Amino acid sequence: MLSQALLRLASAVSRRRMKLLLGIALLAYVASVWGNLVNMRSLQENGDLRIESKIEEIVEPLREKIRDLEKSFTQKYPPVKFLSEKDRKRILITGGAGFVGSHLTDKLMMDGHEVTVVDNFFTGRKRNVEHWIGHENFELINHDVVEPLYIEVDQIYHLASPASPPNYMYNPIKTLKTNTIGTLNMLGLAKRVGARLLLASTSEVYGDPEVHPQTEDYWGHVNPVGPRACYDEGKRVAETMCYAYMKQEGVEVRVARIFNTFGPRMHMNDGRVVSNFILQALQGEPLTVYGSGSQTRAFQYVSDLVNGLVALMNSNVSSPVNLGNPEEHTILEFAQLIKNLVGSGSEIQFLSEAQDDPQKRKPDIKKAKLMLGWEPVVPLEEGLNKAIHYFRKELEYQANNQYIPKPKPARIKKGRTRHN
Ligand SMILES: NC(=O)c1ccc[n+]([C@@H]2O[C@H](COP(=O)([O-])OP(=O)(O)OC[C@H]3O[C@@H](n4cnc5c(N)ncnc54)[C@H](O)[C@@H]3O)[C@@H](O)[C@H]2O)c1
Repeated sequence: MLSQALLRLASAVSRRRMKLLLGIALLAYVASVWGNLVNMRSLQENGDLRIESKIEEIVEPLREKIRDLEKSFTQKYPPVKFLSEKDRKRILITGGAGFVGSHLTDKLMMDGHEVTVVDNFFTGRKRNVEHWIGHENFELINHDVVEPLYIEVDQIYHLASPASPPNYMYNPIKTLKTNTIGTLNMLGLAKRVGARLLLASTSEVYGDPEVHPQTEDYWGHVNPVGPRACYDEGKRVAETMCYAYMKQEGVEVRVARIFNTFGPRMHMNDGRVVSNFILQALQGEPLTVYGSGSQTRAFQYVSDLVNGLVALMNSNVSSPVNLGNPEEHTILEFAQLIKNLVGSGSEIQFLSEAQDDPQKRKPDIKKAKLMLGWEPVVPLEEGLNKAIHYFRKELEYQANNQYIPKPKPARIKKGRTRHN
């Protein structure tokens, strides 16, 4: 009896212990499963984070590209007026990627016209008009005016021609072809489509003038076989062609005799007096004056010229018109003024007088005042400050190794820079 009772007690105790042991084992199992689960989750979270950051690394440059693309699609152009179909003209500017042409492009675009620029980029640069590329009113064509051009336009501003001595002397035959065959091609186009053509002629048609200041009825004093003849005579015959087309074919022509012009986007290192002096002053080099510096020049700011060109194009004046600033200064005065405006410590260096350097050059602009109501309005110092700012920036680009095309040197062996 006793032994049975003891056996029952022992089995009851061992069952309870068993249950206890089983309970403990179960708890341990649940704890370990829980621990594993927690571990797995944190591993997964770490993995997720790593994957996310990898994706981010790949996606961010793509987002950057999309932002750039969006920016280029929504490129902000300078403000453009809206012109009705009746007032909006289709305008061709040959040489429109050059110094004067690009400023003319800006004006005509902002006035609301449709502008086609044709340029062979001999001295012009895409950069001068890049702010219009993609605009619905703008088109840029890489074309040499020596080849015919077929295009529908209402007005033609014919500016294509190298303009500074090193550039037009580099290839005198090409300069002649551009001013003769190129002008014939543009006049032929004007005749075909009934467009009005404005020729960008030059004060150089007066040569080394015996009349001062030069009026439009002065026939000039040009050496037909000198080193500058390719340009001077090229422009003279271009004027002759305009009037032949007017008389024989009834083409409407305008002839602007442009005097020295300066401003932003003019070529660096092309040997003209303003660019020479500004660059020399900015770089702390001596300002080189040929001769005594008592020769006089008159310079107009480019926006004045552009306003004059547009006024002439839209006027009834078919005879030649001088466009220039009659404010005359000696070369020495220019050198000193530019030196002061730049705040440069450069000295002024006198070199021997250059061959064929005109002593005086000053336009008579009575005709433009009377018939176009035009005269220059930009004060010399204001214009010079804008040009200085532009050249300073260009020198900075150069210092950062950004490309600035330089004009090719003249092929002639003799001859020195003159004050142009
Ligand atoms: N800037 C002045 O002081 C001045 C003075 C008098 C006359 N001009 C006349 O004004 C016009 C513009 O002068 P700029 O100072 O702007 O000179 P520029 O050299 O900056 O511009 C002339 C443009 O014509 C282009 N061009 C040259 N030959 C060409 C060809 N065969 N086909 C197509 N394009 C050609 C050049 O690439 C350049 O873009 C020229 O006709 C020049 O004779 C200028």
